[in-house]
Amino acid sequence: MKSRASIKSHPLHPMLIAFPVAFLSGTFIFDALAVLLDNEQLWQTAYYLGIAGVGSALIAAVPGVIDFIFTVPPKSSAKKRGALHGIVNLTHVTLFFVAWRMRQDPEASRSWILAIEGVAVLLLAFAGWLGGTLVYRNQIGVDPRYANAGKWNEAYLQEATGAIEVAKSSELKVNQMKLVHIGSKRIVIGRTEEGFVGFDDHCTHRGGSLAGGMMICGTVQCPWHGSQFDVRTGEVKCGPARKKIQHYTVTEKAGKVYLEL
Ligand code: FES
Repeated sequence: MKSRASIKSHPLHPMLIAFPVAFLSGTFIFDALAVLLDNEQLWQTAYYLGIAGVGSALIAAVPGVIDFIFTVPPKSSAKKRGALHGIVNLTHVTLFFVAWRMRQDPEASRSWILAIEGVAVLLLAFAGWLGGTLVYRNQIGVDPRYANAGKWNEAYLQEATGAIEVAKSSELKVNQMKLVHIGSKRIVIGRTEEGFVGFDDHCTHRGGSLAGGMMICGTVQCPWHGSQFDVRTGEVKCGPARKKIQHYTVTEKAGKVYLEL
């Protein structure tokens, strides 16, 4: 599922998170060393690292939120994981901010500040683990390619009654898919050896995006756990999914492809 916040297919969120991860964990490490070695300069360095960490975390969050809203498939296990990832990130950034505010009081306990930052670092690691699952298992931000370097495509269309033009015939080669958003619906338009097909971009197992999977010989395979569906009838060919997917009538006329909702 291609990232909406990307430059030339390179998602921005993973690029930017390197900064808060380094700065925030550096804040904890420098503070721990400052306490251990009773070194005021290390404590001062951590003060500035904290500012850089919180600031860069807020910047990195922007493309993350965009991908959460537009890239992560709705009503899916990844959507819940993405929400938890966001909440855990917000919590540890808040804890670092609280620790940073506390240190402005010369009387504040350094042990307490260190303890708060320690909890925040653990949460930071947990958020990273969730983020890794979103990318490496749920494939959020992956830009698929087809045979002959064919590019995966996506379009946002106006809701309308009757047949809606969703693609040009030449846009899709056999076994290629395109994701179209029509209102709140996400529908996959695919080209098989027998012609064009349309079906919901929602695996009935845990909501994986079928547009991000593979379609070969009239069967689409979900990228998350491998469920397979017949793209003409929506029937399950292979689990773990048990419920069929919704399919639609798609017609081709004068070089254009039309979807009937
Ligand atoms: S979400 Fe599990 S197979 Fe599709």
